[in-house]
Amino acid sequence: MSKVLLEIQGLRKQYGIVEVLKGVDCTMREGEVISIIGSSGSGKTTMLRCINMLEEFQGGRIRLENEDIGYEQAGGVRKRKSEKDIARQRALTGMAFQQFNLFPHMTAAQNIMLGLVKVKKMPRDQARSVAEKWLDRVGLASRADHYPGQLSGGQQQRVAIARAIAMAPRLMLFDEVTSALDPELVGEVLQVINGLAADGMSMLLVTHEMRFAYEVSSRVIFMNQGVICEEGAPKEMFVNPKTERLAEFLKTSSFN
Ligand SMILES: Nc1ncnc2c1ncn2[C@@H]1O[C@H](COP(=O)(O)OP(=O)(O)OP(=O)(O)O)[C@@H](O)[C@H]1O
Ligand SMILES: [Mg+2]
Repeated sequence: MSKVLLEIQGLRKQYGIVEVLKGVDCTMREGEVISIIGSSGSGKTTMLRCINMLEEFQGGRIRLENEDIGYEQAGGVRKRKSEKDIARQRALTGMAFQQFNLFPHMTAAQNIMLGLVKVKKMPRDQARSVAEKWLDRVGLASRADHYPGQLSGGQQQRVAIARAIAMAPRLMLFDEVTSALDPELVGEVLQVINGLAADGMSMLLVTHEMRFAYEVSSRVIFMNQGVICEEGAPKEMFVNPKTERLAEFLKTSSFN
């Protein structure tokens, strides 16, 4: 079995007095593709944002490659790491969102090059060839010098994914990357994710595309009201749900 990449123990997150993650436990191995499903407000996005330290969390631990993310745990005292450490740790994960968040005044290639040059301190010509390589991989070799406004939603999302992957993260986080797309553009983005999965990229993906989750995942996690309610192989989860809640959820979802 491959080694443990991500370990989440007792993760708790509050917004004010409202607890939205109520003790999440999850272990993920290198090369796994895990889909997170669950109804709106169950805490899926919040979980991804905690892993990426876009959100602070109040309890539990997140460990990535055996390193505590965000907080030190010394002698039972919990202390936030330095901003420098957090920035370094954030670069271990790449994230793609529902909204692509490309810079509109930069071309596809420039969007991808930005982090390589600014964060990785890569020379521009080298960054350009990395950008071109990834644009080619997502089927957009001919669009390198196009601005986001000149690209379709599906193409923009593929650039956004290429931008995250180009940074060589250890773990990719996808949050409903197809939800803002017209139905005819969903397939091309899912195909890119499929390709990354085939390459052995470790991925956590929140999705409402149940058929896709079924096909691409090595494991599926069902979240409900801030906890993992059920998890297992896609086949067990979708065909033979153990909990009433998952069975109910699947009835109202697009899987059939
Ligand atoms: N910035 C915030 N301030 C206060 N509450 C928030 C904030 N962000 C999220 N929440 C609340 O936290 C809970 C979990 O939200 P989250 O976005 O993680 O859900 P989700 O499972 O991703 O839902 P969806 O499927 O709609 O994207 C919800 O009740 C939401 O209202
Ligand atoms: Mg969400």
